[in-house]
Amino acid sequence: MAACARGLPLRGLRLRAASGLALLRGPAAQRLSRDVEIRQQFVSLEEEAALLRELEPRLQRQRYQREHWDRAIHGYREIEKSHWTEQNEAVVQRLRDIAFPPGVPQLSMVHVLDLGESGFINPHVDSVKFCGDTIAGLCLLSASVMRLLSEDNDADQVDLLLERRSVYILRGIARYRFSHQILRDEESFFGERKVPRGRRVSIICRNLPQVPDTG
Ligand code: OGA
Ligand code: MN
Repeated sequence: MAACARGLPLRGLRLRAASGLALLRGPAAQRLSRDVEIRQQFVSLEEEAALLRELEPRLQRQRYQREHWDRAIHGYREIEKSHWTEQNEAVVQRLRDIAFPPGVPQLSMVHVLDLGESGFINPHVDSVKFCGDTIAGLCLLSASVMRLLSEDNDADQVDLLLERRSVYILRGIARYRFSHQILRDEESFFGERKVPRGRRVSIICRNLPQVPDTG
């Protein structure tokens, strides 16, 4: 049962504020720690394998694309997905449940992004037209470093260590006032530590932008 699994000490370990700083590095780490959440070992190896079993046939129908014309993503393929096997649906639901309070309208389509081993994502802020205040990503197959860069001050940055099978959630200023990027292998360091970037598949859930209340 999902609720039970969430209670396991290693599963969904909440790393925020003080303890979360171990996975956040940089001048803005303290300030951003409120708006960044990282949960290690969010899925088991078996759950990761089951997700990939379902995703691979669709992903492998595509070739890796060199560059997306407007979205800063290089060496990738992607799908959007609304239906999952029962087992995988439960995992996606678990992700939605930790990221969004009950009743928050979400994109029904889950975004699956497959970065090849030389793929990377340049700094960008997700469209405010299509995506609400929260971005939640489950990272499969490879660890990576996500860099958040202040839109106001280049010196204001923080690196997140995203281990394989972890989840990150960006909210508030981390979503709106900082761009995010995934470093390419050559640049993939967390402080002194090399974080080898292999092929990485992310499963991303987003909420809908809030419609202004016109009364
Ligand atoms: C994106 C993005 C991050 C990830 O697709 O806009 O930033 O974890 N993806 O794959
Ligand atoms: Mn993005």
